[in-house]
Amino acid sequence: MPNIVVVGTQWGDEGKGKVVDVITPHVNVVVRYSGGNNAGHTVVVGREKYVLHSIPSGVLHPGCRCVIGCGVVVDPGSLIEEMESLVRRGVTLDSNLFISKNAHVIMPYHPALDRASEAKLGARRIGTTGKGVGPAYADKAARVGIRMADLLDERLFREKLEANMAQKNRLLREIYDAPTFSVGEILNSYLRYAGWLAPYITDTALLLSRWIDSGYSVLFEGAQATMLDLDHGTYPYVTSSSTTAGGAVTGTGVPPTRIHGVLGVAKAYTTRVGGGPFPTELTGPIAEAIRARGNEYGATTGRPRRCGWFDSVVLRYAARINGLDTVALTKLDVLDQCETVRVCTGYRYQNEILTDFPEDETTLAGVEPVYEDISGWMSPTSGVTLEADLPAKARRYLERVEELTGVPLCLVSTGAVRHDTILCEDSPLLRWFPSVRSSLF
Ligand code: IMP
Repeated sequence: MPNIVVVGTQWGDEGKGKVVDVITPHVNVVVRYSGGNNAGHTVVVGREKYVLHSIPSGVLHPGCRCVIGCGVVVDPGSLIEEMESLVRRGVTLDSNLFISKNAHVIMPYHPALDRASEAKLGARRIGTTGKGVGPAYADKAARVGIRMADLLDERLFREKLEANMAQKNRLLREIYDAPTFSVGEILNSYLRYAGWLAPYITDTALLLSRWIDSGYSVLFEGAQATMLDLDHGTYPYVTSSSTTAGGAVTGTGVPPTRIHGVLGVAKAYTTRVGGGPFPTELTGPIAEAIRARGNEYGATTGRPRRCGWFDSVVLRYAARINGLDTVALTKLDVLDQCETVRVCTGYRYQNEILTDFPEDETTLAGVEPVYEDISGWMSPTSGVTLEADLPAKARRYLERVEELTGVPLCLVSTGAVRHDTILCEDSPLLRWFPSVRSSLF
């Protein structure tokens, strides 16, 4: 049974939640391996819309086991709220959610430090979600983090918390001039959370290994995306985790030899929230039209997303870094009213044309996109489920995307709900999960 990674190829919000939701009926387990409640995965089931932040999108399928891996940072208060809100809407969460003992915990001082640090950075701020994700990963790397298992040992938790708080309160007070926290209050609320979450906290690496041994199929659900990866993204304008396919290994404890393929998710155009370089960014009426038609507002923060044309330099880079076998292209219908659709084929930098994504800040700041113009199809594609029913010009656009990125498409999404989906013939997705076709229609 195949174990497949689903990864974002741009700057996030590509529609990974929908793609995971389409594949989930054909796997036994969905595991999140990076990020925290900075993520916002939107899934529409019938008339119901769900926005998931920490819980894998697989939870919407009864019988699917959902794992929060060790590479995730968990805000227990926010996770419990998410769990309660799902349960209120009839979603089962009893014996199907597993949280890694080794996942690090977001403590109340992490969001406070996140926001204080952003305020201090001024024009160079990252534009974070303010959820404390960066400071929590910083503590993990500094080896002072608190892990889920620590919450279950009151003495150890108190000891670690007291040591941390002395330092964090000083930082907040003396460097950031921000309010401080009381050990007692944090201890009380986090011990309450621990009691609530205890039944779910376990050795998830061991469970995953046993499940794979017994023939279960695992889907690794990426959060954020390639260009926000701590090592491979547009540093420093990135998130603080390993969002690329490599993170699926370290963020779960499943070795690379047990993963069989990588599926990248890309939008038919590009968006980004927060600061940092974005070579194909548009301003003006086209950007506004894309934002309005694509409802491009952050699922976690509500911020308007920056919008721009499809960038094949970014996609080729994502293909190389993640080893993409195939790409799912989402939101094609958002471009239905564009007279001309532009695709970036390279970057002009001084007197050169770059076709490989430059990794350093200085070069990236000086690039200009080189575009190829494709005639727009100017007719509706919303809800189309067969490639043959697409306008010829839309098919031409898809072909050009495949040619320029060098990766075959497996799926084209033409709307928010599950069945607004075109499955491409002979794709790796249908080889991995042949029954996807029958379950969609
Ligand atoms: P952080 O992850 O909150 O530290 O934010 C770092 C950068 O990643 C900012 O530019 C955020 O806007 C961006 N980011 C974090 N999570 C997401 C996401 O789920 N979608 C899109 N961008 C995100």
